[in-house]
Amino acid sequence: MSSKQAIKRVVVLGSTGSIGTQTLDVAHQHADRLQIVGLAAGTRAAELLEQARRFDVHHLAVGVPEVLDQDMTQAFTEQAKAAYFLPNAPEGSYQPQAGQGSFGVGPDEVVNLCHLPEADIVVNALVGAQGLRASYETLKAGKVLALANKESLVVGGDLIMPLATHDTLLPIDSEHGAIYQCLLGENAKEVTKLWVTASGGPFRGKMRKDLETVTPAQALAHPTWNMGKKISIDSSTLMNKGLEVIEAHHLFAMDYDRIEVVVQPQSAIHSMVEFSDGSVKAHLGTTDMRIPIQFALSYPERWSAPVEPLDFRQLGTLEFAAPDTDTFKCLALARRAGSVGGTLPCVMNAANEIAVAAFLDNACSYLGIADVVEAVMDAHTPQVVESIEQLSELDQWARDYACTYLAKNY
Ligand SMILES: NC(=O)c1ccc[n+]([C@@H]2O[C@H](COP(=O)([O-])OP(=O)(O)OC[C@H]3O[C@@H](n4cnc5c(N)ncnc54)[C@H](OP(=O)(O)O)[C@@H]3O)[C@@H](O)[C@H]2O)c1
Repeated sequence: MSSKQAIKRVVVLGSTGSIGTQTLDVAHQHADRLQIVGLAAGTRAAELLEQARRFDVHHLAVGVPEVLDQDMTQAFTEQAKAAYFLPNAPEGSYQPQAGQGSFGVGPDEVVNLCHLPEADIVVNALVGAQGLRASYETLKAGKVLALANKESLVVGGDLIMPLATHDTLLPIDSEHGAIYQCLLGENAKEVTKLWVTASGGPFRGKMRKDLETVTPAQALAHPTWNMGKKISIDSSTLMNKGLEVIEAHHLFAMDYDRIEVVVQPQSAIHSMVEFSDGSVKAHLGTTDMRIPIQFALSYPERWSAPVEPLDFRQLGTLEFAAPDTDTFKCLALARRAGSVGGTLPCVMNAANEIAVAAFLDNACSYLGIADVVEAVMDAHTPQVVESIEQLSELDQWARDYACTYLAKNY
């Protein structure tokens, strides 16, 4: 590799989570192409500090102040200030001077990392609607947004998409990364349908009565992906697929009646695009998030594989089925929210976040998650999306309503 190869300078928000750690793994494997310049996490401060030392990062933020004691604060401050340089750094790479780092505490400081002058790309791997501001500010700052935080688009797609271009918003979600790649070189007017694939989750094939006593441990045991808790529960209820349908609607400017969900239990096909001549392009690959993460970082190039490529001889059968939306009501609710649009997806998402947290806390039954979401959606009169502040107020209203509903019904 030429020493003149440009290095991409990356901020990772949510670096201690599933996507965050896999992003750092990709950065480690491609250390000659990727330089981590900023890291943020919520509560796992010791892990964040360890990452900062390992990747020599000096712009740091911790989102939840309560987790920091004096010693940890001191350690972060020292890491931010430490003198450093890159020995053997390729020409043109990032070589900050001593004392130029930063250490911030609280949600605003996490978002501030999106404006780092030395960053080219922000990987938003935060979980939940709290990721919206970071996505918005990244694009406003003119940087590339590598987006794992699908809730950003579910809640604020109407505000984010006008700021984005094809080259500045790269999806990390494997389904959307797949569709993005299937669409490369194609005429958008010739696309007739997007097929978003779903593994079906741990309860594929079950009926409602089978799900009455599901425990958090059972719901967290995803058959094909190893993910954070919130998305694991969302995958089991198919809410995750509903969020992805809304995400696809925004990313690819596609009407809801042209976005289909198909269950593909092997998760080998990551999604498909159908064209006007009846041709269908599918994206396949090993079931490992480092592939779509790397694509979002390497685009428009492709770099050497981060994991073993798929061996089709080992794959065996590929199955397909329609999703069961009577049993998995969350998918139907999300579709309804997306089709109505406006502020309804914001409210639906907030209700779901509260219901999932309550379920994990044994304060809501598994089937109750959909009931909470539906009750909050029914209580809301959708408005046109106008601002982050408006969404933030409605998000809070929906959370309060969901908590009251839970207190009355569970
Ligand atoms: N995991 C996957 O395979 C996958 C696939 C596709 C899309 N996604 C999407 O990617 C996003 C992240 O998912 P994940 O599975 O990586 O979740 P996760 O493992 O729970 O990680 C979430 C990250 O966000 C951080 N965080 C939480 N609250 C924060 C706060 N207040 N301030 C700053 N950081 C905070 C966490 O920090 P602490 O842990 O230190 O508190 C952690 O680093 C989600 O939107 C998910 O839907 C995930």
